[in-house]
Amino acid sequence: MGWRGILGFEYGIVLAPLGPDISGPELVAAVANAGGLGLLRAPDWESPDYLRDLIRKTKTLTDKPFGIGVVLAFPHKENIKAILDEKVAVLQVYWGECTEELVLEAHQAGVKIVPQVGSVEEAKRAIDAGVDAIIVQGREAGGHVIGQDALISLVPRVVDLVGGQDIPVIAAGGIVDARGYVAALALGARGVCLGTRFVATEESYAHPTYKRKLVELEKTEYTDIFGRARWPNAPQRALETPFYVHWRTLPSHENETHQPVIGHSTIHDMEKEIRRFAGPVPNATATGDIESMAMYAGQGVGLIKEILPAGEVVKRLVTGAQRLIHQNFSAEIC
Ligand SMILES: Cc1cc2nc3c(=O)[nH]c(=O)nc-3n(C[C@H](O)[C@H](O)[C@H](O)COP(=O)(O)O)c2cc1C
Repeated sequence: MGWRGILGFEYGIVLAPLGPDISGPELVAAVANAGGLGLLRAPDWESPDYLRDLIRKTKTLTDKPFGIGVVLAFPHKENIKAILDEKVAVLQVYWGECTEELVLEAHQAGVKIVPQVGSVEEAKRAIDAGVDAIIVQGREAGGHVIGQDALISLVPRVVDLVGGQDIPVIAAGGIVDARGYVAALALGARGVCLGTRFVATEESYAHPTYKRKLVELEKTEYTDIFGRARWPNAPQRALETPFYVHWRTLPSHENETHQPVIGHSTIHDMEKEIRRFAGPVPNATATGDIESMAMYAGQGVGLIKEILPAGEVVKRLVTGAQRLIHQNFSAEIC
């Protein structure tokens, strides 16, 4: 009965924290109300008061539990303190060491802690630190990509590593529909974490042009042309937009620092200039040359045909998986 819930949630469907400001209160609440685990995204700078407001705003939209993601590569100590004070259900962490101390701190506050990892080694360290679940990210994933392995081989290896311990493994990367969900369950995952599919929802805070491109375009590439100065050595999977195709061979010494300003955006209440090759994907406030901004997407993007309400995405994953398992697999087993 693999499609049942994890970590106390009704289902094992996770909305990835979508940086820098895409999985806001509306999207997280929609996923929570549909029985999934929605993850807000903390700012990449210390902003505990803003974060408290963000969490409280989400609580006005849902009475279901939800979580929040923090990228450990950026300043985060005050933010994590605020998150733990607010007692969200889950703290997700990425791109940095999920230490035993951090796990203890979260547990003392009654908050579950779930790192996203991209290798067997990173998974082992997380298990040893005592985490509550592990998101395993394959190279298929949209956004920043921390490992090199494909999901189909990485998930079962982490599942074997977990063994009999009660640490659900959650698969992330290229999963868009019930077929991907059932495939992940077959690999031993107990949940799935989707990013790109949720960017293309009605409640996501992505710019309408970005959402439209996710429906129109089908190809992605693993690259590092975006945000090299601000977040070095952090490759990403991006949509092959005409802008990207034109610039994909950007010489390695170039970065966003001395590039022209192509637009503006309010990211977590802060006015930001967006330079060419900057990392942030366009959110709903972005103005300027949107089509030349970074648009991250996973390899499953070719399966996205329409913008849906986020609750509908959760519902289709669950009912579709139940149907698939019942129709295609149960009969042979009995
Ligand atoms: C626009 C976008 C922003 C993302 N931002 C974050 C982030 O801030 N923190 C994080 O842990 N993962 C982030 N991810 C990666 C997701 O956690 C997840 O690994 C990925 O979305 C799974 O692949 P998929 O997009 O094919 O579903 C992001 C992904 C996308 C598409």
